[in-house]
Amino acid sequence: MSVQSEIIEFYTDAYDESMRLQRNARGRVERLRTLELLARHLPPTPARVLDIGGGPGVYAAELAARGHEVTLLDPVPLHRSQAARHGGFTVADGDARSLEQADASCDAALLLGPLYHLPERSDRIAALREARRVVRPGGVVLSAVISRHSPLLHLSALGRLTTDEAAENLAAELAESGVNDPETGFTVAYFHTVAELRSEYRDAGLGDPRVYGIEGPLWPLLASELVEDREDLVTAALRAARAAEQDPALIASSAHIMAVATV
Ligand SMILES: C[S@@+](CC[C@H](N)C(=O)[O-])C[C@H]1O[C@@H](n2cnc3c(N)ncnc32)[C@H](O)[C@@H]1O
Repeated sequence: MSVQSEIIEFYTDAYDESMRLQRNARGRVERLRTLELLARHLPPTPARVLDIGGGPGVYAAELAARGHEVTLLDPVPLHRSQAARHGGFTVADGDARSLEQADASCDAALLLGPLYHLPERSDRIAALREARRVVRPGGVVLSAVISRHSPLLHLSALGRLTTDEAAENLAAELAESGVNDPETGFTVAYFHTVAELRSEYRDAGLGDPRVYGIEGPLWPLLASELVEDREDLVTAALRAARAAEQDPALIASSAHIMAVATV
């Protein structure tokens, strides 16, 4: 089993993932909200945290600085070398669908990326089952996915839904499979509905997870080219995200959705 070469090539040659969470106000909101949800749900320090698909290590570094004992796994060599430069945690190669870690060997497993790079449902279930296997009873599995509605909100905010053709393509993408068309500039990816995320947790033996919108309903405003990087809007977006985080009608308005289950 190997990670699709398109994904490795995308992150190596086409996209600088190491800057994503600080490049703009949208990234900063994602980072701050993800960290606050992690702080709320992770076991107390020093917990053994397995950051599966941890990328260049932004979250691993923050969690290590807070006193957790972190191991980051990622299939992209560039991400591993960027992560290793932070120091303070272990970095290794790894595929979420088949982990080398022993059963019940950590207190928390994070999947903040792999689930949206696995278009096959069976692969996503395998990744969630592996996360469940390596976490001890009472520990937690936290994952993030991309909302099925985020292309609609993002393209609207960028002013790119000005033709019937663009609107029809998007409607088809929303209604159909959830599989991203790599022609859009992103790589092999899957966009979840909240119901799908819940059912994947259940089918992986993780029960019914707690589900949260990460960035909240204001993020498209931050993505809009009409708005400069205004720090006051970051504050407003964080407030809106907290107010709407578990509102069933608004969870999917976030770009990313987090699910948390206790093993
Ligand atoms: C958008 S990045 C997110 C990185 C980091 N977790 C974060 O939230 O900032 C997605 C990451 O998932 C990794 N990934 C993709 N497929 C994977 C798989 N099958 N197993 C483990 N990691 C995978 C990629 O290499 C990439 O580093």
